Amino acid sequence: MAKSELDRDILRVLYSEDDIRARVQELGDQIYEDFQGKNPLFVGVLKGCCLFMADIIRACQLKSEIEFIAVSSYGNATESSGKPQITRDLGQDVTGRDLIVVEDILDSGNTLYFLARYFMAKGANSVTIVTLFDKPERREKPIKADYIGFQVPNEFVVGYGLDYGQRYRNLPYVGVLKPEIYEQ
Ligand code: IMP
Ligand code: MG
Repeated sequence: MAKSELDRDILRVLYSEDDIRARVQELGDQIYEDFQGKNPLFVGVLKGCCLFMADIIRACQLKSEIEFIAVSSYGNATESSGKPQITRDLGQDVTGRDLIVVEDILDSGNTLYFLARYFMAKGANSVTIVTLFDKPERREKPIKADYIGFQVPNEFVVGYGLDYGQRYRNLPYVGVLKPEIYEQ
């Protein structure tokens, strides 16, 4: 297949569509083992979770439900502002529920640190974090994911839900953008 207008902006592919599919299935299998009989509620963190959420819930055939929350901390930049804000709140009561929070990437940790506390304050019984990508070097808050797909180096990555200026979320793989894209 010819390169798309999105592909042409990518310097280097870090994880292919096949790499991601295989790893998501492994995570789904682990979560299945750990949550059988618990009726968890998957909570996707919009918008970055969009592709991962769709895939992880299918990789994990639990009796479960799904919910979403939207949080903004970036604007259109590549550095977190450090102050996450809820832009779309949960659509249901989470009191007593076992939540599985689905994130695209754990970076500074500001978003998930804030959300984990928010969900516990809302009465959740437990908060488990699954993130497809983790950049541990960048952490500013004491927070760890329970399930991690891949560790990524300290580079800004796009694709499979991850954006730069709201674009590139629809790439089926994850890669690093060409420097001239940031310089435009
Ligand atoms: P944190 O609050 O710094 O941990 O950032 C979490 C959010 O920042 C993620 O949900 C992403 O939306 C965004 N983010 C962090 N690193 C990247 C990246 O390399 N590419 C795209 N988005 C990122
Ligand atoms: Mg983002």
